[in-house]
Amino acid sequence: MKDRIIFFDTTLRDGEQSPGASMNTAEKMRLAVQLEKLGVDVIEAGFPAASEGDFEAVSEISKKVKNIEIAALTRTGKGDIDQAWGSVCKAAKPRIHIFIATSDLHMAHKLNMTSDEVVQATVDSITYAKKLTDNIEFSAEDGSRSDRDFLCRVFGAAIAAGATTVNLPDTVGYAVPHEYAELIKYVMDNTENMHKAVLSVHCHNDLGLATANTLAAISAGAGQAEVTINGIGERAGNTALEEVVMALTTRPNFYPVSTDINTELICPTSKLVSMITGIIVQPNKAIVGANAFAHEAGIHQDGVLKNPMTYEIMKPETVGLVSNKLVLGKHSGRHALRSHLQEMGYELSDEDMKIVFTKFKEIADKKKSIEDEDLEAIVTEGILRTKDVFLLEYLHVASGTTVFPMASIKLSINGRTVKGSGYGNGPIDAAFNTIAQLADISPELLRFSISALTGGSDAQGEVTVRLKENGLIALGRGADPDIIVASAKAYVNGLNKIEYLKSSKYQESV
Ligand code: KIV
Ligand code: ZN
Repeated sequence: MKDRIIFFDTTLRDGEQSPGASMNTAEKMRLAVQLEKLGVDVIEAGFPAASEGDFEAVSEISKKVKNIEIAALTRTGKGDIDQAWGSVCKAAKPRIHIFIATSDLHMAHKLNMTSDEVVQATVDSITYAKKLTDNIEFSAEDGSRSDRDFLCRVFGAAIAAGATTVNLPDTVGYAVPHEYAELIKYVMDNTENMHKAVLSVHCHNDLGLATANTLAAISAGAGQAEVTINGIGERAGNTALEEVVMALTTRPNFYPVSTDINTELICPTSKLVSMITGIIVQPNKAIVGANAFAHEAGIHQDGVLKNPMTYEIMKPETVGLVSNKLVLGKHSGRHALRSHLQEMGYELSDEDMKIVFTKFKEIADKKKSIEDEDLEAIVTEGILRTKDVFLLEYLHVASGTTVFPMASIKLSINGRTVKGSGYGNGPIDAAFNTIAQLADISPELLRFSISALTGGSDAQGEVTVRLKENGLIALGRGADPDIIVASAKAYVNGLNKIEYLKSSKYQESV
């Protein structure tokens, strides 16, 4: 087993491939800063050839995040590699991540290439990229379903051409732990010059085995784990960073390895990812779910009160679950707010600070204490989303036992204000109908959910919606002490995300 495990976070790339989880550049930047604080070693910031939006996000993150490696994903073509390099070259520690499929199935049916051609493309692309940077990762897509000896041949050729990391993905989440561990061992023993590169693993969770497979691979000698926060990602998602890190931390006898992850930032990072993407964490999710440290049965509660170790294998504080941390209140001034936001990773301009402070005072008038979650919501909504097409300016709803629910709304569309009113079978339905009418789009509402952002009956309501229009799916999120306002904000945010997806900048070109 390696002494130290490199954490390669792909929340911004594979994570963003979760249906509806599109993020704009400011949101990705915020997450990148948080991931750097969390202590990951590498951030995969995007797939620059996929869209203009990805290129822009990778470029901006490369300019700002200087203490860790920034990777850009690319296919083997020179044009793709140039785009990847163009976006990542400003990083203090850039990495180019080249991938090509190696399974018989993918080579024959997707790439229409022979195995020799795949080896040649691997060598050519790495040789080309090596002129740009020394730091090259090569991924054998669908590696776990590839012929073992062919995999060793491709990896050997990749290392000879200059790859410093070779990654063996379980792209479709098909592997089981002992099989994957055996494959890792086989590749380590049979790949020429394997000692010259780091062997990396990248698992998907289609059978719920991503964490188990990653841990098995670490036991077998893998040196890098590719992960996402909350396990978000394509289909059933990727390996969850928090699960692997806490397994390594909680069971050091089995995993005598070190990492640079600050575990106390796990829960705050998880909440931030959920807030920005709109993907809710299931309550029983390991480590970061709302119930992960909740004890329901009387006998458990009794035991935990007597000695937490009876039913708790980790301390909630270790993962940053600090109960009701009071941060700021109504009387806190601009200076206190600015310095707390700096601690959280936000360096705001005076103009942005003005927006945040006004919103902060508004919420503080309605809510006794303002916690980190409230501040994240204020900044996410007030600053990170400023270039929105639609903006909710005014909302009034009438509802009750004897009233037909009605909403009156003012909406700004690209700076032009429109107003109108409409009915629904409840206040939220009325608000959504009216907004859709004013915006002149009527997406299908696939999902609506509501929860409290913090404890207390004065907590802000957090609403997420999943909208679908013309095949495009977007998640919208909104928070406010008034749940009808939170719902309207979430709906408007969802419409804005659909607009992003429609615009050529975010349109995938691959
Ligand atoms: O799952 C996969 O194979 C990938 C590669 C591009 C690394 O995401
Ligand atoms: Zn993947």
